[in-house]
Amino acid sequence: MNTKQIIIGCDHGGFVLKGQLIKHLQRRGFDVCDVGTYSADSCNYPDIADALCKKIQNGEFERGILVCGTGIGMSIAANKHSGIRAAACENTFSARMTRMHNDANVLCLGERVVGAGLACDMVDLFTDTDFEGGRHTLRVGMLNDLDK
Ligand code: RB5
Repeated sequence: MNTKQIIIGCDHGGFVLKGQLIKHLQRRGFDVCDVGTYSADSCNYPDIADALCKKIQNGEFERGILVCGTGIGMSIAANKHSGIRAAACENTFSARMTRMHNDANVLCLGERVVGAGLACDMVDLFTDTDFEGGRHTLRVGMLNDLDK
């Protein structure tokens, strides 16, 4: 990543894991912007995905992490935003490949699916893996065209 800044958000289903990921990222020297939710009370994941994605769309942040129960609702909501390439990942291979091939800018994780150790490893791959470019540049461009 160009900066050690990252944005993170969750719903009630991802609240505990989000706290663990924030500590992990801060230990790694990241400045973490937390868009909520700030308690374990029930809330609606599309609101959180929207708040986070808007801050990527306006250039405040390059990459973000969204946590819900499965990672799926957050990824569906995030991918409705132009310029957002969100990937719900459950393993390290996918987390690495979605950076290399899709230039993913949002990683979505499920607290009810993965443990904190695996989630931290996926976050590290998401922040530290570069986009491969080459033939994938055309394809990511085609994704961007689908936004129009
Ligand atoms: C909340 O119960 C749950 O539906 C949400 O966290 C998420 O898993 C949705 O995809």
